[in-house]
Amino acid sequence: MSKYLRFIGRSHCLSLCFLVVANISFAQQISSGYKNGMVVSAHPIASEVGVGILKQGGNAVDAAIAVQFALAVVYPNAGNIGGGGFMVYRSAENELAALDFRETAPGKATKDMYLDTEGNPIERLSLDGQLSVGVPGTVDGMVKAHEKYAKLPWKDLLQPAIDLAKKGFPITAMQARELNARKEAFERFNPMGTALINKKNEWKAGDILVQKDLARTLKVIRKKGRAGFYEGRVASLIVEEMKRGNGIISYEDLKAYQAKWREPIVGSYKGYQVVSMPPSSSGGIALVSLLKSVEPYPLAEWGFQQDSTIQVMVEAERRVYADRAEHLGDIDFYPVPVKGLLDSNYQAERMKDMDFNRATPSNAIQAGSPQVYESEQTTHFSIVDKDGNAVSITTTLNNSYGSQVVVDRAGFLLNDEMDDFSVKPGVPNLYGLLGGKANAIEPGKRMLSAMSPTILTKDKKLFMVVGTPGGSTIITSVFQTILNVIAFNQTMQQAVDAPRFHHQWMPDEIFVEENAIASAVRARLQQKGYKITPRTSIGRVDAILVGADGSLTGGADSRGDDKAIGY
Ligand code: GLY
Repeated sequence: MSKYLRFIGRSHCLSLCFLVVANISFAQQISSGYKNGMVVSAHPIASEVGVGILKQGGNAVDAAIAVQFALAVVYPNAGNIGGGGFMVYRSAENELAALDFRETAPGKATKDMYLDTEGNPIERLSLDGQLSVGVPGTVDGMVKAHEKYAKLPWKDLLQPAIDLAKKGFPITAMQARELNARKEAFERFNPMGTALINKKNEWKAGDILVQKDLARTLKVIRKKGRAGFYEGRVASLIVEEMKRGNGIISYEDLKAYQAKWREPIVGSYKGYQVVSMPPSSSGGIALVSLLKSVEPYPLAEWGFQQDSTIQVMVEAERRVYADRAEHLGDIDFYPVPVKGLLDSNYQAERMKDMDFNRATPSNAIQAGSPQVYESEQTTHFSIVDKDGNAVSITTTLNNSYGSQVVVDRAGFLLNDEMDDFSVKPGVPNLYGLLGGKANAIEPGKRMLSAMSPTILTKDKKLFMVVGTPGGSTIITSVFQTILNVIAFNQTMQQAVDAPRFHHQWMPDEIFVEENAIASAVRARLQQKGYKITPRTSIGRVDAILVGADGSLTGGADSRGDDKAIGY
């Protein structure tokens, strides 16, 4: 079992504390009742940057671009320009869009690149160092978002991040601890040095983290846009960095990278429209499948975290994650049976053998055969502007600090997203997830993600913007947050803070946060054959709920130092 458990007991959702930076101050605000806009992110400075852009007359996409770049500076665990992510957008006029800026496998990648001569995975090769890096997508994603929807000039959206990198910001006690804990790894993977290493002393709370190289890189991106990252000096520095290790990203790979606009996944639950991310994320399909699977059951009547509620949710999760492992991958490379998986009849059929008297063992569940129709680091932020345009972005380097490789003289961390591919059928990734042919490594292919930036509407009006980090637990955390509001009538903040549980087919266990399941309920479920395993915090949801009068209420996850700021 231990092979599945690399992710248990480790927090991939590290938190930051409240910070104050020159020119930016935070007032404690009640995060409800706002009419003009709101930003909820993993970092108070990033939220403040986003609200600043809204106040300058920017729309939700302008704010999202500025927040994405600000997080790359103040939240290096997951904020990034060296990684990738997904954006789901809904305009006030109900235009829907999904932007895929997921990383891709380099041109020289091969199916067996992380296996030894006997065909066994080489420990941590897909997680650490230059070979674990996928071609970054964030900068092109932001450029494409800007071209299509932004109002303010590109340079204005980069400026807050440049200032934060150049002038620095005081790190918190938690950041100091995290950076000190990584010192050895940073030294190992960055022999040329990085601003993230304190050469003289240990980091302590209040130390100012200045990232001059990163500021310079951001300035080039400000000036040249896409070409400032995928060509010229920065691209050459990435290629040089690859050569210092065993990396394979080439200049041509960088030049060729393209973020893609895709059709969002659109489903429904109890009359709410659910708009989420299509492949290369599994998030949207899995989330809508979960909601469809539980929709026929009277969850509200059974109650929050009660026996039957948990059973139905867990049995749905078991089946949906089995399908994920078999059927989901990059849709540009593999014929994902999207329509078949989202068919309500298919989900009902999958749930038919569920037995309320006993747990279904996961090894008795295989992926289904949906009809083929022709035809622990990530971070999330949610933004609504005064006109009601909404952006939901989840962005990542994968593991905390990604590959731990900082591009020398360019100052930014590179992802270790290659681990999200299935390195070998039956071998779990960092999050214990299994995969097969659909998610095998191929040059130029996007690795399968669980990220689920989501927007809900009701009667054509914006209702909720929601998402979270958390690897494999992303889908179930978004699922639970939606149910907490719609089925269990919780406020946005209650829904975000409520303790969570998670099942992902394999391993056959329900992972629970402390207090997620009352001890009497837990005992009864165990009697029925459910294995229940406590673990560290699950997810870190940042969400916005829109009231009937259009007022905005934030839910900033108290598991971290996340912050909702409205005005
Ligand atoms: N790297 C985590 C995910 O994309 O699901």
